Amino acid sequence: MSSIIASQSNQLEGLIRVPGDKSISHRAVILGAIAVGESKIQHLLEGEDVLATVAAFQAMGVEISGPRDGSLDIKGVGLNGLTKPDGPLDMGNSGTAMRLLAGLLSGQVFPATLTGDVSLRQRPMERIITPLSQMGADLAAADGKPPLAINPVSRLTGISYRLPMASAQVKSSILLAGLYAKGSTQIHESTPTRDHTERMIAGFTGRRWEQGNPIQVESGHILRGQQITVPGDISSAAFFLVAAALCPGSDVTLCGIGINPTRAAVLEILNLMGANIEICGQRQESGEPLCDLRVRSQRLKGIDVPQSLVANAIDEFPALAIAAAGAVGITRIRGATELRFKESDRINAMVQGLGNLGVNAIEYEDGMDIIGGGFRSGTIDSRGDHRIAMAFAVAGCCSDGPVVVNDCQNIATSFPGFVETGCSLGMNLVEKP
Ligand code: S3P
Repeated sequence: MSSIIASQSNQLEGLIRVPGDKSISHRAVILGAIAVGESKIQHLLEGEDVLATVAAFQAMGVEISGPRDGSLDIKGVGLNGLTKPDGPLDMGNSGTAMRLLAGLLSGQVFPATLTGDVSLRQRPMERIITPLSQMGADLAAADGKPPLAINPVSRLTGISYRLPMASAQVKSSILLAGLYAKGSTQIHESTPTRDHTERMIAGFTGRRWEQGNPIQVESGHILRGQQITVPGDISSAAFFLVAAALCPGSDVTLCGIGINPTRAAVLEILNLMGANIEICGQRQESGEPLCDLRVRSQRLKGIDVPQSLVANAIDEFPALAIAAAGAVGITRIRGATELRFKESDRINAMVQGLGNLGVNAIEYEDGMDIIGGGFRSGTIDSRGDHRIAMAFAVAGCCSDGPVVVNDCQNIATSFPGFVETGCSLGMNLVEKP
């Protein structure tokens, strides 16, 4: 699918599931591969990003079958059982796969090269090269950008590291290297970021997970194969939360959505904007909290987004920017420079895209102001960024004329079936090849 034509939709109704959480899916594959024994993952995201992680471990000698209907079986090879891949490992569009694997590969006894698509080859890797090098790893990347060449070293050493930016990818990369390092590895976070790696390492090592700062890991643990059910991805759910909030008369329920507190700030932000979102049936599965979310349309109002919520809603700002444009009043987003280092420069992509739909949005180095009031017809270049594409597809459903969103194929990296799911709720979306 290279384009979506999104047009004004009536009320959205229905009950849906969204694909498995991308961050948790990557981690389940990684830890399953280096555990001893078999792991069975259910409701794995079958998106291209996660499939790249699966393919990388297959190339390093891990027997993996599936995914089939979200189910993946991994025959773990143990911490030291990976084997040298025949060629470079292609992580496609996935920054998470590249950064987490860089940490893991730093502790192996064979060399490896990580590469990716045009977008991934533009993304900064210095942020992992610096701490991993402090641990004694041998990594090289021209201009700090992929491809990333990793050579074996005799032994990594644990470090105590203060994260200079709020990044769960950097934290997780260091933690995975820490599984191979002499002594303990400690990470200090000024802003808590998604803690799926910590929770899952605890599960695989048979310990109770406890929140901590610094976050600590040691080598010498044995990871044992697990059964994991991945919750629905709140980052994918966010598009329908916003669509249902904005389309008058809507009443939508999203089942089994992960609401880990380090991921759920989108709910707080939408609530501050006046959204009507009900959290039902809270439960816990595979060490992660989840629930069903019922959203009914409600007039939204512009807000100053509290900076304390930014890191834990970082992937939801494309969707939130659409909510802001459909709201009454001004929404101000600041302290969000990290948005510039995602699959596209999301501050610039959102401001320009909103401008194309007649929305007055002002770009700042670390955020944007969005003057609410609604959208008109227009054309969007998603820049190959899955979340920009899906966000503007939502905008089209709430605008008074069609919105053409181009360059949509990367929606398959995180949300295969996005158009079908949206249409099942009544969103007026048409795919064009
Ligand atoms: C992710 C962490 C976040 C997020 C990304 C997934 C992860 O990136 O934006 O989509 O799975 O660890 P940063 O760590 O760069 O903030």
